[in-house]
Formats: sequence, structure tokens, C-alpha cells
Amino acid sequence: MTTILAIESSCDETAAAVIRDGRETLSNVVTSQIPEHRLYGGVVPEIASRLHAEAISAVTRQALDDAGLTLADLDAIAVTAYPGLIGSLLVGVNFAKGLALSTGLPLIPVHHLRGHVAANYLAHPSLQPPFLCLVVSGGHTHLMEVSDYTTFRILGRTRDDAAGECFDKTARAMGMPYPGGKALDERAESGNPHAFSLPHPKVEGSPYDFSFSGLKTAVLNLLHNASQKGESVCIEDVCASLRFTVAELLTEKTVAAAAATGRQTVVLAGGVSANSELRRQMQQACAERGLSLFMPPLPLCGDNAAMIGAQGYYEWIAGRAADMSLNAAATASIEEC
Ligand code: KG4
Ligand code: ZN
Repeated sequence: MTTILAIESSCDETAAAVIRDGRETLSNVVTSQIPEHRLYGGVVPEIASRLHAEAISAVTRQALDDAGLTLADLDAIAVTAYPGLIGSLLVGVNFAKGLALSTGLPLIPVHHLRGHVAANYLAHPSLQPPFLCLVVSGGHTHLMEVSDYTTFRILGRTRDDAAGECFDKTARAMGMPYPGGKALDERAESGNPHAFSLPHPKVEGSPYDFSFSGLKTAVLNLLHNASQKGESVCIEDVCASLRFTVAELLTEKTVAAAAATGRQTVVLAGGVSANSELRRQMQQACAERGLSLFMPPLPLCGDNAAMIGAQGYYEWIAGRAADMSLNAAATASIEEC
């Protein structure tokens, strides 16, 4: 039995969790800084790192208390070391290093996006690699083959904006507070997804790569043109049309990659996997093709430390502990980390 304390501070959530054997959640504490960043319309890195430093100790204490454990009951400490905002990552990494040094426990660095994938292990006991995985977050869009718990191969990625970024930037232009992805999803529910015909970009020569910046610009132009002419646009229809197109692009490429690789299992991960239309389209496309689909439950789609503890367990099994020279990194490949 391996009990891991996990810490996550890569962006605007300070989180700690206790996870057993990569699958069982003993506690999962997430505090969000979103209300503070909302004032500025996006994450302010300096504010983020200061708020992480203020919260991390209490959040970790809470995770241990909720699990009914003390540091003496732990086998290892896992921490998100990359990628993310460097100042934010450093708070978590230094805190985890301090705990590891003072307790003598092993320290396990975890790649944030590998963590998003592992959120599914907590919710779906039967899920194990190999599978095809689409990770869609605020900063990344990756289509990957996961051949075992620590072996990832990227088949396609975004060439410009991430899917979450496309939602957040257009939502902001429509007056929704940061991060607008969720609000846009909600407003889209009562809109007509076919009201506007939006571009369906393809990346020449790269069948599994994505491009979202043209789509974002098309929506911004549509809003701008309407306001210049003094016309009103139905925001619900814009949201529904954009959401439908993004979900369609993501779903089409994912099922095409499943067919090409012969993978029978599809896994969704990351903050944007909470999107209702993406979940619907993916469910329908997988059902039509006889593919098994796994998606994280909504509370595990966004950033949390439980997912870092789940992946941390498999990194630990693979012998990937770090020493005190561990450093955070703003960027890191999910394949080689
Ligand atoms: O994975 P995540 O929590 O943080 C990163 O690692 O980036 O993803 C955050 C992203 C944001 O862009 C947010 O707007 C988006 O996920 N998001 C959504 C929804 N909920 C969160 N996008 C579309 N529909 C949603 N329901
Ligand atoms: Zn994330």
C-alpha cells in the first residue's frame, strides 16, 4: 500500500491531496484564486505566486487532516514540477522539497498534463493503458497515444491557441468573466449551434494537429462587425456555434486517430473536457464506432492535486523519484519528462 501526498500549484489553484495506490482518493483540497484574478481579466503571475505561498501550508494541512493522516503515514510526496507559470510552480516545488527533506520521504515530480490524464484512473477503476487520449486545457491541446502509465506519444497538437484559450478569449470579448469557458458553455445551451457558419480549419499535412486561432478571430470579427454596424447579435447563438465547431474539430480528429491507430479506448482529460457539447459529441461518435470512452467527472476535469497523486504513484512505480536538485520548469514535453 503506497500513500502519496500530492501538491499542485501550476496556475491559479493551490491544491493538495492524499492518494492511495494511484486510485483511491483519501482527501482532495482545492482552493481557487479565480476571484482575485477576475479583476484583471486573466491570471496575473506575480499575484498567483504570492497567493500560492500564502495558501499552500494550510491547504496541505487540510489534506492531511481530511485523510485522517500525519506526515508519518506517508510513503512519498508528489508535486507538479512542469509545465505552468514558473513562479507558481516554484512555490509548490520548494514546499514539496522542504517536506521531503524534513521527513526523508521520496520526492516525485509530475508533469501537469500527465496528471490530467490520470484524473481518469481515480474515477474509473477498470481503466488502464493503452488508450488514445485527448487532453484539452487552458494552455494545451494534445492528442496522444498512452501506451503505458508513463509512456506518451503525441500524434497531434495545436499549432496556435489551445481550445480553452479560444473559449476564454472569445468569452471575454462577449463580456463574460475570466475564465469564460464554463460561462460560454452555459450560455450556449439555449443557442442555435448552426446560427453562424464558422471556419473549420485544417492543418495541411498534419491530420491530427489543431488550429484554433482562426476560429477565435472569426468570432471576434463577427462581434466587432456587428457592433460597428450597430446590430445586435444573439450571444447564445455565437456561443453555441463556436462550442459546436470546437467540439466537432476535437471529436473528428480523435476518432480518426483511433481508427488509424486501432485503439479501442478513448480518454478525455483537462479543463475543457467539462464542456457539455464536447462530452455529447464524443459520446455519440465513440458509441457509433464501438469505442469505449472514459471522461473525468466534472470536479476532476479542472486543476486539482488528486490527479497529481494518481500519476505520482505510477511515476514512483516506474522509479522516477527526484533528488533535492529538482527544479520547476515553465515548459516540458509530456513525452520526455
Ligand atoms: O485544465 P485546466 O483547469 O487548467 C489548465 O491546465 O489550463 O483548464 C482550464 C480551462 C480554461 O480555459 C477554462 O475556461 C476551460 O478549461 N473550461 C471550459 C469549461 N470548464 C472549464 N471550457 C469549456 N467548457 C467548460 N465547461
Ligand atoms: Zn490543468
